[in-house]
Amino acid sequence: MDATAATTSSEARTARRRRRPRPVPSALAGLLLLAGCAGDAPSALNPAGSGASRVAGLWWLLFWISVAVFVEVMALLTWALVFRRGDVRIRHGQPLRFVTVAGAGLPFVILVAVYGVGLRDLAALGDAPGPEALTVEVTGHKWWWEVRYPGASGATANEIHIPVGERVKVRLRTDDVLHSFWVPQLMPKTDLIAGETRETWLRAERAGSYRGQCAEYCGTQHAHMAFMVIAQPRAGFDAWLARLNAPARQPTTEAEHRGQQAFVQGTCAACHTVRGTDAQGRVGPDLSSVGSRWSIGAGAVPNDAGHLGGWIANSQTVKPGNAMPPQPVYAAQLPDLIAYLRSLE
Ligand code: CUA
Repeated sequence: MDATAATTSSEARTARRRRRPRPVPSALAGLLLLAGCAGDAPSALNPAGSGASRVAGLWWLLFWISVAVFVEVMALLTWALVFRRGDVRIRHGQPLRFVTVAGAGLPFVILVAVYGVGLRDLAALGDAPGPEALTVEVTGHKWWWEVRYPGASGATANEIHIPVGERVKVRLRTDDVLHSFWVPQLMPKTDLIAGETRETWLRAERAGSYRGQCAEYCGTQHAHMAFMVIAQPRAGFDAWLARLNAPARQPTTEAEHRGQQAFVQGTCAACHTVRGTDAQGRVGPDLSSVGSRWSIGAGAVPNDAGHLGGWIANSQTVKPGNAMPPQPVYAAQLPDLIAYLRSLE
């Protein structure tokens, strides 16, 4: 072997060594992923509410039981292999007793215990919050969430504000097909069934934003039917709710004024409401606070000027199949419309 070939093969060995995944960090990363510990991951294993905590508790109970059973079976298997090789006699009746205890008795005890714990958690999750609890009315549409608060004249979309630490009743309806309301960090799923009003509740133990998702396939844009639950201290929540009764922010700049005119006199007003203006459409989301929302199109794209412009001009390229047709907007009007809508906070 000449010197070049020797160098090449030694380099190849080094490269292979570098590429080989390190088992310990990979296993740790896997465990962290499993535990949903990556910051504010919207995972049912990273609970922030009492409902989700019960689900996570049940999950971990089942997980550790499975681990214990797996370890026990592997130990017995190893023992049996070693045992078979040795010259130890099995006494008469011993295998039958063993099968009865380990194969039937132990699983029976485990299953009954898990069933009992499951029933207890199911009862706790089904506990209706008292009549005094704050109520939020959520309606599922293809493919967005309409959110109303009894007593408030306005509505919002794809975001649910709640006071932190309080049980909030959520009344669920669907306007069309089957959807499912799920906030993994706060509460398990509740299906929305046509013609029925269903109830669940949310309680966030700490302030923050918790992503929710439609969890029942409902058409091509099912994946883009997300929402955000925003838990905030009571005073902040009350101030937010008060704004839901007030007219939307008035335009202050020239561009915003022109944008408002274009919005109210154009096709937008036929489907959308902006409180305090002649735009009172109820087909699409209320846009009175659209500038402050976390996304456009129920999680389809970020809420910034560029994506908003693209959405107004032709939302079908962003979220194909949604109910908003391409808009006949003059190029000169688009920056004004963007300026106006972004000012609505
Ligand atoms: Cu709505 Cu899936």
